[in-house]
Amino acid sequence: MKTPKRIQPLVEEGLIDEVIRQLMSGKEATVYVVRCGDDVRCAKVYKAATERSFHQAVAYQEGRRVKNSRQARAMEKGTRYGRKMAEEVWQNAEVDALYKLAAAGVRVPVPYICFEGVLLMELVTAADGNAAPRLNDVELTRELALQYHAMLLNQVVLMLCAGVIHGDLSEYNILVDAQGPVIIDLPQAIDAAGSSVAADMLDRDVTNLANFFGVVVPELLTSQYGKEIWNLYKAGLLTPETPLTGLVAAPTEVADVDAIIREIALAREEEEDRQRRLAEAQA
Ligand SMILES: Nc1ncnc2c1ncn2[C@@H]1O[C@H](COP(=O)(O)OP(=O)(O)OP(=O)(O)O)[C@@H](O)[C@H]1O
Ligand SMILES: [Mg+2]
Repeated sequence: MKTPKRIQPLVEEGLIDEVIRQLMSGKEATVYVVRCGDDVRCAKVYKAATERSFHQAVAYQEGRRVKNSRQARAMEKGTRYGRKMAEEVWQNAEVDALYKLAAAGVRVPVPYICFEGVLLMELVTAADGNAAPRLNDVELTRELALQYHAMLLNQVVLMLCAGVIHGDLSEYNILVDAQGPVIIDLPQAIDAAGSSVAADMLDRDVTNLANFFGVVVPELLTSQYGKEIWNLYKAGLLTPETPLTGLVAAPTEVADVDAIIREIALAREEEEDRQRRLAEAQA
């Protein structure tokens, strides 16, 4: 097809030889199938901030890392430089997350480069060589749902062990290739350690999975994997091998009734003492 204007700079740089077809136009980007030499790859062209939906931007800002405080101040002020900076941070966040997660062994598309607002990455394909379907479009048996759910929980744990929370994980941002689920769409990924909303975001991601697979496997609907994973992470006990139960233990400490009675008696004695001293002082 005719090369879209936004892809032209990558053709001029020799990063892309030919645009084969448009794959999808989503809320935040338009995705193309492209040819790079003998390889077929995927090019995600980010929409400008003004065209994007205001996608939970506030919650996401917090976990974002900017490289220096000048950039942070400019972004806060919303100057032209600041807006450009914010665009770059947004675009680079996805390629940064992809590199980090690929290195941590998470199943994500292999990233190649992010250039002029275009992310060039591996095209995830189905067995027939065409672009892989989204999880949402895959027909699931109970057995397959259980298997994919377990695989995805493991991916979420691997991500968290690498310090990353997806932040928009759902059946629409997961592709399915011959080996199983592949996670995509990460510009809003956040740093688990640097964000006060991390626990909620993780829980929402994990609950989305439970709700999706719960249609086929109803017992997942009441599972508590998100909270369980977060508790283990916070306690420094989470590894990719940690077995998960989906249950969150109720507080296990039995109240020490004797100690409470002793405390009350002590408080009463102290108060009686105080009253006595007060009466003596007034006498
Ligand atoms: N690496 C890839 N390989 C194959 N298909 C891909 C790849 N990346 C994206 N796609 C396809 O393009 C669609 C949009 O990509 P993505 O979710 O990253 O962008 P988006 O603009 O945030 O989309 P949406 O608003 O639909 O979430 C995906 O649902 C998927 O079908
Ligand atoms: Mg998406």
